[in-house]
Amino acid sequence: MNTIKSNPIGFFDSGIGGTSIWQEVNKLLPKENTIYLADSKNAPYGQKSKENILEYCIKNTEFLLNKNAKIIVVACNTATTNAINYLRENYDIPFIGIEPAIKKAGLVTKNKKIGVLATKGTINSKLFEKTSTKIDHSIKIVEQVGYGLVELIENGEIQSLKMEKLIFTCLNPMLKENIDALVLGCTHYAYLIPQIKRIIGNHIQIIDSGLAVAKQTQRVLTSDDLLNSSTNKKTFHHFYTNKESKILIEILKNYNPVKVIEKEF
Ligand code: DGL
Repeated sequence: MNTIKSNPIGFFDSGIGGTSIWQEVNKLLPKENTIYLADSKNAPYGQKSKENILEYCIKNTEFLLNKNAKIIVVACNTATTNAINYLRENYDIPFIGIEPAIKKAGLVTKNKKIGVLATKGTINSKLFEKTSTKIDHSIKIVEQVGYGLVELIENGEIQSLKMEKLIFTCLNPMLKENIDALVLGCTHYAYLIPQIKRIIGNHIQIIDSGLAVAKQTQRVLTSDDLLNSSTNKKTFHHFYTNKESKILIEILKNYNPVKVIEKEF
């Protein structure tokens, strides 16, 4: 019997950012069915209170459980750092989270100066504070909130001049500190990598956690014996959004077959 194994991997994010994680998971686990929930109506989570973030995460989890998710990837640093402990304690399925990859940056940096670009909600979270204290204390962490970036991405203004200027404003304090590793601590920011590279050049290494999350998802599915072993070659990928679906469709245009569904929730 393959019922549970062929159930989908569930993903949620405050919007389209988590699709950067979905892409990594889909690449590594192409036989898996997936359901993605973009709570764009409530984006950005990064500016909300911990209570609000938790409330959204519970609602998103219930939605995905109703769609029979066998595992949930919390494809959002803000949601993970504020709510994953609660979710793990209160629901009986595995959750995979994503956190800014400070540990990896700590191993990569040569001059011991790393930058972390993330949302206010992530930077102010207890989990982030805890992880930050776990790396070599001689490493300086320059934290920067990416004010306004998520809003512009959700608006479909990824390539705009406004975006270019805003990215520069966010990165400038870190550049002044001479960082040599930059952690992208928000899943939305993966869509800004070309613009970020134009600003920071080649000597600063960009670190994001997409592949690590995909590998962790694979590890947990394997150890829990939940990998899809169905011989049916057709997979489904359903993307739900509670706002206009245009940007989601644009971002997913190279993936087939995906179904994007606008739905109130
Ligand atoms: N994509 C999210 C993250 O990884 C949240 C962005 C937001 O809604 O502020 O943090």
